[in-house]
Amino acid sequence: MSVIEIVHKHASAEPRAPRLSFFRTLRFRLVLSVALVHAVLMGTFVWSAVDKQSEAIRADLYSRAHSLITLMAVASTNALLAEDLGSLAEVTARVKRQPDVTEGEIVDVRGDVLASTNLHQVGHRLLEPLVGATAQGRNRLRLHEQIRVAGQRIGTVLLDMSTRHLQAELTATRDEGLLFILLALVVGSIAAWVLSLLITRNLYTLMAAVHKIGGGNLGVRVDLHARDEVGLLGGAFNAMVESLQRISEQVRSEHEKRTDAERLACVGELSASIAHEIRNPLSAVINSVKLLDRSNLPVTDRAQAIAILNTESLRLQRILNDFLDFARIRESRLVEDDVCALIEEVAGLIRQHPQAASVRVEVQCDASRCRTRHDPDQLRQVIWNLMLNSVQAMPEGGELHVRATPAGRVVKFSFTDNGCGIPDSLLDKIVRPFVTGRKHGTGLGLSIAQRILMQHGTSLSIVSHVNVGTEVSFELGAA
Ligand SMILES: Nc1ncnc2c1ncn2[C@@H]1O[C@H](COP(=O)(O)OP(=O)(O)OP(=O)(O)O)[C@@H](O)[C@H]1O
Ligand SMILES: [Mg+2]
Repeated sequence: MSVIEIVHKHASAEPRAPRLSFFRTLRFRLVLSVALVHAVLMGTFVWSAVDKQSEAIRADLYSRAHSLITLMAVASTNALLAEDLGSLAEVTARVKRQPDVTEGEIVDVRGDVLASTNLHQVGHRLLEPLVGATAQGRNRLRLHEQIRVAGQRIGTVLLDMSTRHLQAELTATRDEGLLFILLALVVGSIAAWVLSLLITRNLYTLMAAVHKIGGGNLGVRVDLHARDEVGLLGGAFNAMVESLQRISEQVRSEHEKRTDAERLACVGELSASIAHEIRNPLSAVINSVKLLDRSNLPVTDRAQAIAILNTESLRLQRILNDFLDFARIRESRLVEDDVCALIEEVAGLIRQHPQAASVRVEVQCDASRCRTRHDPDQLRQVIWNLMLNSVQAMPEGGELHVRATPAGRVVKFSFTDNGCGIPDSLLDKIVRPFVTGRKHGTGLGLSIAQRILMQHGTSLSIVSHVNVGTEVSFELGAA
């Protein structure tokens, strides 16, 4: 099997910057983590502060209540001994004036109320058993203290204090704490957002520069206005691009030198090829003219010389026309167009070609999926040259299959025949001008096709088996 692959070079598309969803950006992650850390730390700190403050408020109320009840007990002892109800009533009246006090009572050993802030209670017996020193209801703090003289209980003082005020203070403190956490969260998030903007702005600048370089613009430099590690990265990036640019300029100048040398070699080769091509017909023309110059030339020889003159001058004209076609390939004018119509059009013409009488030409192309960017006139010429070659490779008849197949971002074209094939000795130079394997071929068809395709950013690929067939293919970027 013989294969010739000429490097495919699709017109380089500008690389696209990858798009990230917002939740995968560095900015979002930075803000989220800073906000979370902020919230947890501030939450713990504020919560413990609130807890301590609540404890202090509660302790303050208890201590006030204890002091008050002790005072009540002391102030009531003598009056109790003397059964002085007036003084006892005065004690409860004084107690009533204290903040948060809802009720104060003095009872004797039997549990009869001797004095109370609630006058209706006086004279009644207490229903509640006096168990324990303190009892705490939902919104009240209730304390009892026994009054003892020489170890003997002579009565009890009771004090009821409202905890509403305490609860309100605790709620206010907790709300303040929550507000603080919320504020910390908002301020932390804003700070993290600003910080992330500062960091990612430079990263985005770098990313844009990298994409421009990917698109071939080596003149790009970044100015990150930063003196930190990102600034250093920017400096290193610029230095890298500078050396890249230097290397690329060296490569370009080397390439130009080589291209000049190659061009000169090519001109020499081409001149030799043209000279070789026109030498035979030209000699025939010169010999015929010499013959015609003879006065005694027989009529039959004269007619033969004129016929040779005619054929060979036409051959010379064809060689020169083909060469001019090759030399004058214009710039490609790319448009988005359907390639199926083009292939069908050329296939129609080829079927009518005298050399294609016994060749079956079959086209497979899905018009809805085969649109490419190409120069229609030039692509028509490429398709014609390739089909004609296949037809000329099957003088005894055969089959030519032409396919256009979409394959991702390209459309693949293939021309497969079961003709004579190309010998290995010719294959690796077959696309050079004036290389031909046919008796009357000029050897320009494939080189014209190759030059046109190069202008489209692609090239020919040829696989051939002698006496089996040939497949010539190329790709064009899909529209
Ligand atoms: N499908 C094919 N099958 C077999 N040989 C082929 C095929 N295509 C090209 N060739 C060989 O490659 C040679 C070069 O082809 P090319 O089209 O460049 O020139 P040509 O056909 O000889 O002349 P012309 O300039 O008229 O096209 C041909 O002469 C032929 O030997
Ligand atoms: Mg040809």
